[in-house]
Parts: sequence; structure tokens; C-alpha cells
Amino acid sequence: MKSLKGQSILEAQQFGREILDDLFLEADKMQGVCKFLDGGEVSEEAMHECGSIKAGMAEKKIALLFYEPSTRTWSSFYVAAENLGARVMAIPPARQFSSAVKGETVKDTIAMFCGYGIDAIVMRTDKEGMAKEADEAACASGRTVSIINAGDGKGQHPTQALLDLYTVKRFFKNDLKKDIHEEKINIAFVGDLANGRTVRSLAYLLNKYQDPEKLEFFFVSPPVLKMKDDIKDYLDKKGVKFSEYEKLADVVGKIDVFYMTRVQKERLEGIQVDYDFIRNNCSITKEVVEKMKKEAIVMHPLPRDPAFGEIPEWFDSDPRAKYIQQAENGLYVRMALLKKVLLG
Ligand code: CP
Repeated sequence: MKSLKGQSILEAQQFGREILDDLFLEADKMQGVCKFLDGGEVSEEAMHECGSIKAGMAEKKIALLFYEPSTRTWSSFYVAAENLGARVMAIPPARQFSSAVKGETVKDTIAMFCGYGIDAIVMRTDKEGMAKEADEAACASGRTVSIINAGDGKGQHPTQALLDLYTVKRFFKNDLKKDIHEEKINIAFVGDLANGRTVRSLAYLLNKYQDPEKLEFFFVSPPVLKMKDDIKDYLDKKGVKFSEYEKLADVVGKIDVFYMTRVQKERLEGIQVDYDFIRNNCSITKEVVEKMKKEAIVMHPLPRDPAFGEIPEWFDSDPRAKYIQQAENGLYVRMALLKKVLLG
């Protein structure tokens, strides 16, 4: 893929390093655009950038179609589209208020949107593979309508992976100037690795971005929530090192990037999880913090679960806590992505 223009965004594997570097440069520019829109002082270049994007986006229509709840993805795409000057069609929660209630298929829904001249449909679904189904329906319409997968069940969440990688790039070793292509990244994925789509997408995306010898994964979870074989097979095939643990305390000193996750209670389907074990062994505890590298960073796609406590609030003021900035980066990356998809 040479350019993102007119493309659908369905899975993390579709990106290459060149496209990612270009997208991240655009996301840097979007920080300037947001500052300008907030009334801050910016360069002539940022003002010009903002004017030309808004002129190009004025006729673009973006629909937000969410069949599952969301705070960050929905609102950051909404603000991103508004900041760019596009017209936004925000569908109320589709499982409750669209004709999905009456049994309408995603295929028919997408066919309708294509007929209304929508240019991009950002969709979150509760079933793996629904974004691809939607893309097939959009292609069948004969129009150029980009489907953007904002999370499909246990499948993938590629735009989350984009903002996650952008965050790693910005904050790795807490040095904004670092070129992470040159660095070896030891990343720990911690918690529910069986049901979380964000870890799946990020594992694929990191592989597309880093050379195999510049990357090592440490998977930390109880046995019932282990990373699935498809990802491990992929890493084997690519020659990327990974290892598995049950206790974060056993690897903490080696880790540069902690990617914490919530237990996906809504997707457990009868699996019994020992929450006390997770709270004590797969969470940020005082013991873990004591052994953590000074320049490590701690990320989380959010929401976190206060009942489970994978990242307790007392850690928020630690300079290594990056999850709030990570969510903010979602706005810049999604603005950049919408611009690239709709304008090139
Ligand atoms: N990280 C993420 O997808 O958050 P939301 O579910 O709030 O969109």
C-alpha cells in the first residue's frame, strides 16, 4: 500500500513502516492544528495547514456507527472529524437505537450509508470480522467509502494500535528525540491477553515497525488469559523473541514499556478468573514500582477497572504513567488518519 487515500482501515497488518512514519509526522502537525483551534500561538505553517485541511474536508461526511460502548474512540473520532471541518453523522448507540434492534444486518446498514454519500464509516462492532464484512458491502456499493475498524469484538482495534505506537515513539525512555527504529524495545503485555483486541493489534503493528532483533515481547497473564497462538505463531514466523510469565514481578526490571490491560469481563464466556491472583501478580503494585526502570513508561488503552486495580490511581502522578497522554494522542493520530484517508 503506497498511500492511505480511499483505503479502509481494517487490521494492523496492513500498515508498512513508510506509511506509519508519514502518518506519525502528520499526527505531529495535528498537535499544532489543535493548538491553533484552541486559540494558542502557532507557526504560520500550522495556520496555513489548518485552513487548507478545512477547505478540503468541508464536503466530507463521516459516520460514527458504534454497536458497543466507547468513551475514547467515539469521542476522539468525533472531535477529530469536527476539528478537520468534516460533517459528522453520529449514530446513537446502534445496538439500541438503529434498526439493528429489528434484525437489520450490517451489510444492509452499510449499503444505506453508501447511498447517502458518506465518505468514511468509523465502526465498532461486537463480532470479530464485522468490519471486513462492512468493507465488502461498501465495495459492492461501487462507491469509495472507507470503513475504519474502531474495534471488532475480540478481533482487532487498529486505530488504537496506531495511537499506542505513536505514544511509544514519543515517550520511549522518556526521550522525545529517540528514533525507536534504532532502539531495542522490551515490551510487556500484561493482564487479559486472550480477549483483548488492543494487544493483538499492537503486536502486529510493532512487528511492522521494528526490525525483529529490535523487539522482544514479555506476555504476563494467568494461564486462562494467555496470548492466543495465532499471535505467537506470527512472532515465531517473523523471528521475534517472546516469553510468557504469570507474575509481573518476575520480569519487571527488564521492561521498557508496560502495556497494562483490563480483564474483558464482557468477553469471558464462562471462563473463571482468579481476580485476587491478577490483582497481586498482573497489576502495578508497590513491589513492581520499586523494581521498575526509571525511564520505563506505563501505558493502558483504558478504560481501567477500579475494582480490579490493574493500575491503581496512586500511580497516576508517577512520571512514568503515560496512559492519559496516550489517550490524548488518539485525537492527533485519528485526525491524521482521517486526513490521510479522505484527502491523501
Ligand atoms: N481504548 C478504547 O478503545 O477505549 P474506549 O472503549 O473508551 O473507546
